[in-house]
Amino acid sequence: MIKVSPSILSADFANLEQDLTAVIKAGSDFLHIDVMDGHYVPNLTFGNPIIERINTISTIPLDVHLMVTNPSDYYKFLANLRVAMISFHPATVHHLHREIYKIKELGIKAGVALNPGDSLTMIEEVLEDVDFVLIMSVNPGYGGQSFIEGTYQKIARLDQLREERKLSFKIEVDGGVNGKNAPKLIQAGVNIFVAGSYIFKADDYASAINSLK
Ligand code: DX5
Ligand code: ZN
Repeated sequence: MIKVSPSILSADFANLEQDLTAVIKAGSDFLHIDVMDGHYVPNLTFGNPIIERINTISTIPLDVHLMVTNPSDYYKFLANLRVAMISFHPATVHHLHREIYKIKELGIKAGVALNPGDSLTMIEEVLEDVDFVLIMSVNPGYGGQSFIEGTYQKIARLDQLREERKLSFKIEVDGGVNGKNAPKLIQAGVNIFVAGSYIFKADDYASAINSLK
């Protein structure tokens, strides 16, 4: 079963409640929350007070993607909300294995996010520990960028490692996902789609979400 996690970065921030309610009603499984700090990535989005308000509106779990230099500052706060998944980038932590368990110990699924230029070897030693791997198919920082083609290969290799080691972590893909590349991504091994502009720019959110599934 493929899950869809709309990235709210492409939602209408002037009508956020209305937009989120609509995308939830359209069949989203999670809301993907991109936290950017203007340091790890060259863009700034939102922090705890806004996530807290989104949490009160949302009837579905949150999938928080931390693109910040200090991800561990957020875990405890997020654990008090309806947060199902947290992902962080390896370059932002000193001890990858320890960081994964800090999240898991709070009862939240832990994921490591890899940028297009990051090798799968960076997470080889923690594949037994993660609940999911987030494969970025664009460079982090902005919505609406074009999908990087090499991602299919990378996901297929990760899926192969998962099979060889008989593991059950999920593969989430994030960036430039649309109805055209979705079938090939599913074939490569994706379980969860993050999609921002493809869903929020569509006239009908439900048909965009269904086309991904
Ligand atoms: C990029 C973010 C993505 C982005 C996806 O740094 O992590 O979640 O919002 O947006 P689209 O689907 O428009 O590429
Ligand atoms: Zn994201």
